Amino acid sequence: MEYQEMIIQLTELINNKQLISATISQPRANSDEVKRVKIKPIELKGIYHIQFEYQYERILKHENLQLELASEKLNHLLKQYRQVQAEFQEEKVHIQLSKKFKVLWKSDLVQSQKVVNLSHNRKKNYLLDEETAYPFLIRLGVQTPDGKVKKQKHDKFRQINRFVEFIDDALDYLPKDRPVRILDFGSGKSYLTFALYHYLHIEKGLDIRVTGLDLKKEVIEECQQIAIDLKYEHLEFLVGDINDYNEETSVDMVVTLHACDVATDMALARAVKWGAKVILSVPCCQHELNTQLNSPTLDLMLQHGLVKERFAALATDSIRAELLKLVGYEAQLLEFIDMEHTPKNILIRAYFTGKKTTSEEQVKYRAFVDFLQVKPFLENELKDYL
Ligand SMILES: C[S@@+](CC[C@H](N)C(=O)[O-])C[C@H]1O[C@@H](n2cnc3c(N)ncnc32)[C@H](O)[C@@H]1O
Repeated sequence: MEYQEMIIQLTELINNKQLISATISQPRANSDEVKRVKIKPIELKGIYHIQFEYQYERILKHENLQLELASEKLNHLLKQYRQVQAEFQEEKVHIQLSKKFKVLWKSDLVQSQKVVNLSHNRKKNYLLDEETAYPFLIRLGVQTPDGKVKKQKHDKFRQINRFVEFIDDALDYLPKDRPVRILDFGSGKSYLTFALYHYLHIEKGLDIRVTGLDLKKEVIEECQQIAIDLKYEHLEFLVGDINDYNEETSVDMVVTLHACDVATDMALARAVKWGAKVILSVPCCQHELNTQLNSPTLDLMLQHGLVKERFAALATDSIRAELLKLVGYEAQLLEFIDMEHTPKNILIRAYFTGKKTTSEEQVKYRAFVDFLQVKPFLENELKDYL
């Protein structure tokens, strides 16, 4: 097949909204900083877009383009890469390009059509699929013994899957040549801790050492028993307070899900001190700034208790993300799960890049906290790094 014909066929499939997902890889130039580009359709403000996710060695960048521009972008990219693997509604396509742009196009018809979920930041398929029986989900009561998701556990199943998506996205940031050390602070009933262990170790084959820590003795004992029963050898549960946990010197990934108030900050501070490459944190009940906020210009909002509470929570998370940036992380605030399921839906995702911050960013941060007249707990915890 000629190069131009390939472009026409691909563009046609994409323009007909057939795309489920694609990966463009094997850059022609070794020096190319973007190692892979993942592509999927998403809907933004009701308009069909194609999202390009550029995978650099340490960071991801996204670009959302409407169809016409997406085709141009694709044409441009295919001049720089040699492989495409794409899944469309009715076929799977593998394209290999030679040095001289000769095209090898292999296509397999797909039996079952998948429904594409175009919601932004959400993948179309669950990484843990609904038809498979997972021993940990059965044991945790999310699935029935024959592997059906229980009716009342659908939200939990979605939440677990959403979390696994974030774990999957973080894979490139985790070391592959030694055991990966992971801590889950405030692990509670540990649905997500077990999911993390299952996905990274059983599905992805990573050598991992996972610890779940929580204040609640009975819950921890129960989780430990489940880990033993499932023969999850490198998953342990400890009773303890995040604030007192100083056992580690180096950790690769720190997770906190709904750890209360400044317990989240404690965990973030420890993650930074341990040089964690990945931080995934869904905060909970942030009261800290609520009592400090004092900005006459904002009185119009802050006079309302409800608004003040929400504003304080959003300001807290923005400050957390900014502080992580100032100490060398690429940090984003992302939607964890739909608001309709829980108001605690912001996930702080941070990947360590070591990138130095500019003095301008530091000045911006200072201006913001001064404006709100707050002294964030996390700032104090990280003062040696700022
Ligand atoms: C809302 S639950 C969430 C549990 C679990 N991470 C999840 O998402 O299902 C919050 C958990 O954090 C624990 N927690 C809160 N503060 C803590 C602290 N300072 N140290 C250890 N655990 C803490 C609580 O005991 C509780 O189990």
